Amino acid sequence: MRKNALWIVGGFILGCFATVYCTHQWIVQAQQSERPGNSLDNPVDMPRDLSGLSIKTPRIRIVHTTDPWQEGGSMYLQEVDPWLGWKWGKDLTQRSFRERDGVYGDHGKIDGIMLADGATKMMDRSHTNSCGSCHNVPYRDGGAGMTIAKNGATGRNTPHMYGTGIMEMIGQQIRLQAYAIADTSRDGWISKEEAKGKRLIIYNLPAGEPGRVAIDLGSFDDENGSGFPNLNPIIWPAFVDRNGQRIAWAKGYKTPEVAGFQIEVQVYGFGTPYLPFRPAISTTIRAFTLTPFDIHSGLQTHDPTTYTSPNRDAHALVSNAGCQQFISAAGKDRGGVRAPTKTGLPGISLDDPDRDGYCEELSEGDMDVSEWYLLNHPSPARAKITPEVAAGEKLFAKIGCASCHTPDWTLLASNPNAKDYTEKFTGDRRFFDLEVAWNDKTDRLEGKLNYLVNKITSCDPKGADRERMVPKRGAFTVRGIYSDFKYHDVGEDFYQMQYDGSIVRQWRTTPLWGVGHTAPYGHDGADLDLNTTIRRHGGEALDSRNAYVKLSDAERSQVLAFLNNLVLYQTDQLPTDLQGRGQIADNYKVQGMNVGLECFNSEHLFRTPVKIEGPIRNIKGEKITSRAGTNIRQAYGLDLQFLRDTDGDGFPDVIDPEPLIRGYRDGIR
Ligand code: HEC
Ligand code: HEC
Repeated sequence: MRKNALWIVGGFILGCFATVYCTHQWIVQAQQSERPGNSLDNPVDMPRDLSGLSIKTPRIRIVHTTDPWQEGGSMYLQEVDPWLGWKWGKDLTQRSFRERDGVYGDHGKIDGIMLADGATKMMDRSHTNSCGSCHNVPYRDGGAGMTIAKNGATGRNTPHMYGTGIMEMIGQQIRLQAYAIADTSRDGWISKEEAKGKRLIIYNLPAGEPGRVAIDLGSFDDENGSGFPNLNPIIWPAFVDRNGQRIAWAKGYKTPEVAGFQIEVQVYGFGTPYLPFRPAISTTIRAFTLTPFDIHSGLQTHDPTTYTSPNRDAHALVSNAGCQQFISAAGKDRGGVRAPTKTGLPGISLDDPDRDGYCEELSEGDMDVSEWYLLNHPSPARAKITPEVAAGEKLFAKIGCASCHTPDWTLLASNPNAKDYTEKFTGDRRFFDLEVAWNDKTDRLEGKLNYLVNKITSCDPKGADRERMVPKRGAFTVRGIYSDFKYHDVGEDFYQMQYDGSIVRQWRTTPLWGVGHTAPYGHDGADLDLNTTIRRHGGEALDSRNAYVKLSDAERSQVLAFLNNLVLYQTDQLPTDLQGRGQIADNYKVQGMNVGLECFNSEHLFRTPVKIEGPIRNIKGEKITSRAGTNIRQAYGLDLQFLRDTDGDGFPDVIDPEPLIRGYRDGIR
């Protein structure tokens, strides 16, 4: 009897310990947005989502690599399994980061760029734990979203990121075109002498194409004696000395050492006043990922690609995705002290700039995949083009809207053999284009997947023939982006008084693609409908605005019908011809399972596609199709050398100082 009681008590105590242990495990694992489990998993150990839409991977830092054969490294995820890399990047923008990931630090502290009074900063820190909490219309994509306190109390609206790669490439092209005009000596910077008498005039389309217009971005020269080149504010000059090296503290030509400048082209953001020491807003996708991670979520990235400048000029390195980066975007984590590793690879940075105890909160490889995702984010689309919409489109051009909202742009093909660096261009660096159009027969938006890669077969180090997908970097003409990427004064009603009393008078022409779905409008989100925001135009747009007001009611609704025709869509739900067969299957088979309608779901395109669970009975006994996966480890590459994270602390084994000791802070603690 006593023996039995001992067993019972012993068992009870053991049970208590087991419960504490398991719930602890669960607490550290569970996260709203991370639900890898299927119906067979115990939902306590493994949170599940039978719709299959949640993030299925644990938070594991991606390791930056340049060799595509290092399995699971960032170059492998770009060239060998590009859809998998795309999805890891997407998940980073949708993930809700937790304390153990190092999120936040200095919540609510006023930070950001200094305003003109030299004392007031632009916004506050650490207000959300995910990009997806602001950029969420539509949900699960780089959508548009809420208006936040930034620059001034009137607010700053969140734009969408559809087609953001195309915008980056247009900006980089303008940059090289500017050098072609002004850097006569071709030494990579523009001297004061070279700038004399030159204007920056570029064209959206190649010579001879209908719709080609000249866009005047101002003078390279300091014509008005302001101490700065008189270029449109989308061009940000980084001043250099006579050896072409950057003078970070230079205040324009008034600083005696300044001999000239290099440039960054700022295609993103609504508009911000000129700032002498750094660009007012991030220039590249990469910079526009690591900066928001820091300011909105308190996650600092350790990114050598952005903080390394071989020539000590304005340039940092060229990213894996092929974009020139700029030293002005270097974050606070500079890898001053690096942890040892057992593999000899460079270890994680122990700098911990926000002093929250968590190191290397985001890695260089995380930026590689985030950049890869955003570079390749599908573009907005046109809904059904009715006669009313077509008439509105014509009126839009006729009343002068298109003079700023320039419809089309061509990306010139890359020419790596060009002798002159200004003619090399990068071409279209994306790996696919999703062509989205309305199908009148099926009465819905449909996608068609076009690859933009060369498939290259070569030998990996083990001697096996393997295939890589390398972007062709050809030319691409984007139809219907609707911006000249230039700052304009569109009248007093758009002026923004910043916190410090300084006034922002110029705004970048907002690209109107997707505008039918992104209310509210204006940089401040103050206009709840399109008609109001159009009527708010004045200044340089006054004639065009007046022409709009003078239209008949019917014509004005045509213009609005046209704008409402420029739409976004949920990418993973878009019926899409994934295989180029000219049709979209109603019962599409992936890994032998019927996934239903063929949609733009990247999991179908992985080297090992996700296998869904299929027909099951749910807890109420109803027949449902579970879209949870049954092969997550394999499909998502969790056992690949550079992704394997044995102790589950988010630092993959190859860079974890202690791969078998779980240490969320630095791999050990
Ligand atoms: C707190 C809300 C918020 C969060 C969170 C947020 N953003 Fe933004 N985002 C904005 C706002 C507001 C702007 C416009 C900024 C401006 O013009 O001053 C913006 C602009 C952008 C742009 C430029 C788009 C364009 O076409 O001009 C990109 C790219 C971007 N964000 C990426 C990100 C990424 C990546 C994350 C996550 C790491 C993120 N954002 C998180 C609010 C947010
Ligand atoms: C002189 C150049 C110019 C002309 C001409 C012009 N716009 Fe604009 N437009 C702008 C600028 C700059 C903004 C950005 C204002 C801001 O960020 O607050 C803008 C913003 C908009 C927006 C708001 C977009 C958003 O997402 O917030 C719409 C819609 C728009 N314009 C439509 C039109 C229409 C329709 C016409 C013709 C009647 C027109 N524009 C003419 C420069 C112009």
